[in-house]
Amino acid sequence: MPSITVTGGRPLGGTVHVGGAKNSALKLMAAALLASGESVIHNVPEISDVDLMARVLEGLGARITREGHTVRIDASDITSVETPYELVAQMRASIVVLGPLVARFGRARVAMPGGCNIGSRKIDMHLHGLEHLGAEIAFEHGYIDALAPGGLSGSQVILDFPSVGATENLLMASVLARGTTVIDNAAREPEISDLVDMLISMGARISGRGSSTLEITGVDRLEPTEHTTIGDRIEAGTFLVAGALAGGPVTVTGFDPAHLEMLISKLRLAGCTLAIGNGEATVTRAGAIRPVDVATLPHPGFPTDMQAQFMGLMALAEGDSVITENVFESRFMFADEIKRMGADIEVEGHRALIRGVTSLQGAPVVCPDLRGGAALVLAGLVAEGETVVTDIYHIMRGYEDFTGKLAALGADIRLVGE
Ligand code: UD1
Repeated sequence: MPSITVTGGRPLGGTVHVGGAKNSALKLMAAALLASGESVIHNVPEISDVDLMARVLEGLGARITREGHTVRIDASDITSVETPYELVAQMRASIVVLGPLVARFGRARVAMPGGCNIGSRKIDMHLHGLEHLGAEIAFEHGYIDALAPGGLSGSQVILDFPSVGATENLLMASVLARGTTVIDNAAREPEISDLVDMLISMGARISGRGSSTLEITGVDRLEPTEHTTIGDRIEAGTFLVAGALAGGPVTVTGFDPAHLEMLISKLRLAGCTLAIGNGEATVTRAGAIRPVDVATLPHPGFPTDMQAQFMGLMALAEGDSVITENVFESRFMFADEIKRMGADIEVEGHRALIRGVTSLQGAPVVCPDLRGGAALVLAGLVAEGETVVTDIYHIMRGYEDFTGKLAALGADIRLVGE
């Protein structure tokens, strides 16, 4: 089993470039299903979730060619509309094929995702939305069957919560529906705007980009396209926190700092200096880490995907801070692991009280999930002695060459057993 060994205390400095956004690329790949012919997507990260999405699409009959960070998806001969549990169980995001498949073929059969280790993650809004658009939804032998033999019809859908996945599934379902669809209380994450841009370049008619009301006028067919994925704001944010922990200066390039405004302002409050450039940001910290409260919220609020990394920073703050998790039910598994490194954190319901300590100690720790895993590596960078992080397959899901990039910044870090 591969693991990451990191020895703390080395200064970090230099420039690191982030890849394309995982949470965009996966949906852009699914969007390619909407048109017959070959779509080309650039700036796709080489991570295991992308490998899995490629397997999902191949299972449907799409032909995939990958060359570095460019993925070509030929969706001319879709031979199946079914995605098995074996794949959905490994990656919940597989369910985004539901929308495009029903839209283009009038039918989709996708295994029900199981429980998830960041709280129970339901898909009721995806399914209710599809029903609003005229799909019949049935559950059979662990599968969701969505049927719309006569095609989908435009309708108004109001989401209970601005769910990223439900907004994306409904967007991709409605672009080929008859008439107009309005998605109200839509999620506003930058990755959704990226998907809107790709759909528009395929011929879709969508207004309200970046807002919480998306209006889609269905068209008869879409054409394949060529699109470049936006930079990964969460990978960028992770390296900014690494720089904040170690002192920097660390410059992160390849993303839009406007996508990370809330994190950047919280890092400033925590005592860091942030210099913002075009497509890049530089973090430095000379003084102590100051305690800052954060509450995760849908975009443009503080991203839940940065919560664990920020908690790692607060663990070493000069004072107490409170982190409130409002997006996922129980996303504090990281707290238990970093406590084993000497952090003082008390979790009660969806709040964590972090009492800053003066140092962390290296220890063997286990990745609880993707972002929690990355946050443990960051904690290891500033802990005394050696930290061995196991179950790093979580990190591989979403970070390309995480150890290589940190080593290039000066970290004493090794990927062991690969
Ligand atoms: C996406 C991101 C994930 C990020 C999250 C929130 C991908 C592949 N993943 O996940 O990294 O942390 O957005 O920014 O893009 N919910 C329901 N019913 C539904 C759908 C969601 O109750 O039908 C709830 C979920 O349980 C969760 C909350 O809504 O508590 C947010 O989920 P959602 O925004 O849908 O996240 P994902 O799209 O799964």
